[in-house]
Amino acid sequence: MHETLLLFGATGDLAQRYLFASLLNLLRDRLLPPGFRVFAIARQDLGTDGFRQLLLKRLPDIEPTAPEVVDLLNRCEYISVDLSDPQQLAERLAPLRGRDCVSYLSTPPGLYVPITQGLKAAGLLDAPSRLVLEKPIGRDLASAREIMSAVSECVSEDRVFRIDHYLGKAPVQNLLALRFGNALLEAVWHHRWIASVDILVAETAGVDGREGYYASYGALRDMVQNHILQLLCLIAMEPPSALDADSVRNEKLKVLRALRPMTADAVDQHSVRGCYQAGVVEGKPVKGFNAPTPEAQDTETYVALVAHIDNWRWAGVPFRLRTGKRMADRCSEVVITFREVSHWLFEKPHRDRSTPNRLVFRLQPEENIELTLMSSLAAPEWGALELQPLPLDLSMPINLRRRIAYERLLLDAFHGNPALFVRNDEVEAAWSWIDSVSEAWKQAGTPIHPYMAGSWGPDALEQLMPDCCGGGTRRNHRKGG
Ligand code: BG6
Repeated sequence: MHETLLLFGATGDLAQRYLFASLLNLLRDRLLPPGFRVFAIARQDLGTDGFRQLLLKRLPDIEPTAPEVVDLLNRCEYISVDLSDPQQLAERLAPLRGRDCVSYLSTPPGLYVPITQGLKAAGLLDAPSRLVLEKPIGRDLASAREIMSAVSECVSEDRVFRIDHYLGKAPVQNLLALRFGNALLEAVWHHRWIASVDILVAETAGVDGREGYYASYGALRDMVQNHILQLLCLIAMEPPSALDADSVRNEKLKVLRALRPMTADAVDQHSVRGCYQAGVVEGKPVKGFNAPTPEAQDTETYVALVAHIDNWRWAGVPFRLRTGKRMADRCSEVVITFREVSHWLFEKPHRDRSTPNRLVFRLQPEENIELTLMSSLAAPEWGALELQPLPLDLSMPINLRRRIAYERLLLDAFHGNPALFVRNDEVEAAWSWIDSVSEAWKQAGTPIHPYMAGSWGPDALEQLMPDCCGGGTRRNHRKGG
């Protein structure tokens, strides 16, 4: 297990709120080796003491004198350096040479190349050291290729770990367990029995403070290119022959390559873009998306897409993907809707009002699995056999602490286990489909519809997905905060 973490972008939001919080939990659970050290690296001119003070202020829910907090701070050393200057980086980091390091780049992707070059020049990418890259890598296929071609001159692919933190979430891994651990599900897992798949990632948070980054990415590149397409892959892939990293990645790659490219003449029937305006979220008034430049007004904070996977298993099954900021509720879920029975026998409800079976994987805020079956209402009126939906809660009562997704991924990076990281060809295949969508939007002049913060997105969704409630399945909500 590697003992030295070089954390680039250590003063940024992701590092302070999630990465250091994850390290704290791992230290508390004694999952890190005794010699574990963190070199926190960023541009700001702070000394190690200044950095430790900053961390104390930003780490959520901590007791500053708790032993694990003191332990974490003692293991941190701060290095201030210009991250865009490979030569300066190499000089400042040279004293660390000889350590087996994990270098984690929690920075904008524009800094990946100079940082990697600086690390290489300092000898910090020599085997067995590893490099961890946050998403998004690039903002389209061309820029991703450019970055990766420069990175691959500094470090071999088997030591590059591309993070998609959704793959570290326990319920996301449970998707695989359920699919491949149960003959029952695998038997009906194809177009003959499944009518549609919905993937929803709704956030109540806005873009606040990240306008600069977000304006050149938007929801399509920030969320769909990575988290949502990875979820889609886990639902749609063929059973791998084993659970090793490459067997799973090979199957995910086939799904990404089978996604039907979006075209300008189809895009308006297959997508909706939106941007939030001022409104009320969780009872508090919030501002609308504040575009930092006039060009940034063309940024979607909401996107709904209907994707198709052109292969034998999924022919004709729509995958309906939705994600948005400043929605009415925080809720991430995958809903598999099965086809209706072939012949309806019952008087009530009328066939048109019967509910097809549905398997719901809820990822956030609660984690559970629900199967909706039609069942008879054991009522005193024996005259008519009346059916109604019966939701079966399939969750196991687990009293374990919910882990931050990064805890698992950091440990895997220290151990060198690549199974939950994304391979370069997957990233490229995902960009290739995303590029087809953004190019189709450009050619078709697809508009961005305003929606009120605290709602379930633009009204235009009604036309695209008339049968789908604007929100998730937790409550039967439609639009409106
Ligand atoms: C990040 C995106 O990758 O995922 C953010 O950049 C988003 O915009 C976040 O808020 C959502 O993650 P989670 O785990 O809170 O669903």
